[in-house]
Amino acid sequence: MRISAEAIRHRKGGTPIVCLTAYTYPIARLLDHHVDLLLVGDSVAMVLHGHKTTLGASLEMMIAHGQAVMRGSASACVVIDLPAGSYEVTAELAVASARRVVDETGCQAVKLEGGVDMVSQIAAIVAAGIPVMGHIGLQPQSVEKDGGYKIKGRTEGAVAALLRDALAVENAGAFSVVIEGTVERVAADISRRLAIPTIGIGASGDCDGQILVIDDMVGLTVDRVPKFVKEYADLRSAISHAAKSYAAEVRNRTFPGPGHVFSATNSRDDA
Ligand code: KIV
Repeated sequence: MRISAEAIRHRKGGTPIVCLTAYTYPIARLLDHHVDLLLVGDSVAMVLHGHKTTLGASLEMMIAHGQAVMRGSASACVVIDLPAGSYEVTAELAVASARRVVDETGCQAVKLEGGVDMVSQIAAIVAAGIPVMGHIGLQPQSVEKDGGYKIKGRTEGAVAALLRDALAVENAGAFSVVIEGTVERVAADISRRLAIPTIGIGASGDCDGQILVIDDMVGLTVDRVPKFVKEYADLRSAISHAAKSYAAEVRNRTFPGPGHVFSATNSRDDA
């Protein structure tokens, strides 16, 4: 049985909710039993496809990766990002995109960025029976508008705007909200005020859960790693070391060895 969006909503104030992004079948297989929630984030456009920003994500890309993550997981609540351009213009477009994502993947919920400005989209998707996760604070889809990745909540006005966004998302019916890239005490304060769980990334340990991008967390990110990331493994070095050893063995003909080739007589050694 998969964890539902409603079950995540009821985790407010309880054991912290463990979330990670996942974009592929093998990673979903590896993460599924460790986490409560897998997010097929539009960060896939940067992490796996090499785009400069998340604006490179398309609905088709999100659906293809969402299908792979659904195939690779059995218990996690799977949430898929609505990419930029698929929901902002009208509530009708937002519902149509969310419906397509859910119908074509079977995921539990969708996520979209925005606060006060996205209330009608969130309310319409929820009214259509699709759970929505909000995303406030630093919103990567607005990077060009904002002129870079800017931490939010450093002025009184910005703190008030963040709180307005958080309450708007909750009142519109979201089951939880990601808070990204904010001053720590602002995220902690919002977490205390909201009745729905807050999921922090570069936010606060007082959020109801945490999320990281999987490639950042396992040390696979080849470009800049944000300050809020903790690398729990160093897969960059492991992969580079493996590739170096393989290249050397191919060049000096020690790979393939006897254990990696087939004989004419032993049929039990089939691939
Ligand atoms: O796209 C993404 O990976 C995200 C998380 C960082 C929250 O939105």
